[in-house]
Amino acid sequence: MGEASTPSSVIPIADLRYRAAVPPIPATLRPASGQLSDALGRPLRDLRISVTDRCNFRCSYCMPKEIFDRDYAFLPQTSLLSFEEITRLARVFVAHGVQKIRLTGGEPLLRRHLETLVAMLAQLRTPGGLGLDLTLTTNGSLLARKAEALHAAGLRRVTVSLDALDDAIFRRMNDVDFPVADVLAGIDAVLAAGLGPVKVNMVVKRGTNEGQIVPMARHFRDHYGGRAVLRFIEYMDVGSTNGWRMDHVLPSADLIERLGAVFPLEPLEAQAAGETAQRWRYRDGNGEVGVISSVTQAFCRDCNRARLSTEGRLYLCLFATQGHDLRHLIRDAGASDAELSGAVAGIWAGRADRYSEIRGSGITPAGSGERRVEMHYIGG
Ligand code: GTP
Ligand code: 5AD
Ligand code: SF4
Ligand code: SF4
Repeated sequence: MGEASTPSSVIPIADLRYRAAVPPIPATLRPASGQLSDALGRPLRDLRISVTDRCNFRCSYCMPKEIFDRDYAFLPQTSLLSFEEITRLARVFVAHGVQKIRLTGGEPLLRRHLETLVAMLAQLRTPGGLGLDLTLTTNGSLLARKAEALHAAGLRRVTVSLDALDDAIFRRMNDVDFPVADVLAGIDAVLAAGLGPVKVNMVVKRGTNEGQIVPMARHFRDHYGGRAVLRFIEYMDVGSTNGWRMDHVLPSADLIERLGAVFPLEPLEAQAAGETAQRWRYRDGNGEVGVISSVTQAFCRDCNRARLSTEGRLYLCLFATQGHDLRHLIRDAGASDAELSGAVAGIWAGRADRYSEIRGSGITPAGSGERRVEMHYIGG
């Protein structure tokens, strides 16, 4: 790894892009109970860790080329949390009740030696002695090369983002002319390595790839023997660079109606509170699909997800405008594990974020005028 730490007096310019607060350390430190509850009674169960803000794709809804060009200042290496720092923070979160860790980016497989981090996180145990649900969201471009090493390191499963099956549409959407065949080969590698079943996430943008809904559904229900589950995601107003408009969103209800006309569907019960996807079963028994309706049917009520950015800021919502600078506590302030744990407990106790729910009710959420974090920086 050999990642040098940053002297505390130097703050790289890219770190100043978003607002961050230094979290207070409570005067009284209590041991973690594994049962944190936020201001709306929601537990902390899911930690998403972004390991790089870089990506080799330029999907227009996430990293439009005009903005993320060769002059864009990505975070310097010294700003990134080291694997040891990530693991130390993850251990604190797991003691507070986190059961699932998802590695994201940008494109997480661009982070060198990622399997080393996977192996470190795979050692962690919940207070009940269980291993974590350790997973990864990737664009699939490097999977064919890395699936086996990730599995050997202890990764449990993988989610692949794929927006079209048609090669021309896919190349246009990733905007770097990347062929769909290579992503499909990555999915095959995941399954061959024993990392299946695989989830495939398709962001649906009206007028761009809505014609791919049925071909994608057909492909993933007919060729993988139930070992690939496709989920359709409503295009979200996350970040401030993608020029999002409501008329680019295809509501999941419309999508299910269209898909159901080709392949009859019936709803499935939710498996766990806080799930993002509503699940539907093909009536002919050929597996299931999911819809993630972040825009038209917000699921903030049970949101148990925290996000750790590439340089160690904790975000309590995908739409947050401010992070909590945990890196400062561990790198500059020399906080002990107990102090770190107390700080995280305090941050979660104050959490009242429910952006999508408020926006869905027609009210402009507080902070909407401020610069929101981008998805490539905080992860899906
Ligand atoms: P599984 O445990 O594998 O089912 O994962 P998941 O559904 O919790 O997470 P995944 O990362 O696959 O999420 C899929 C997509 O849902 C993301 O790419 C986002 O577009 C969206 N999403 C995930 N979490 C949230 C969230 O907390 N809020 C909102 N608004 N959207 C989210
Ligand atoms: N709306 C919905 N999903 C998005 N993603 C990135 N940007 C958006 C957006 N604006 C998804 C990607 C990927 C994950 C990392 O986040 O498709 O599945
Ligand atoms: Fe596309 Fe994912 Fe890369 Fe964003 S992080 S540009 S959604 S591949
Ligand atoms: Fe959670 Fe924020 Fe998404 Fe609501 S909008 S589900 S609170 S991350």
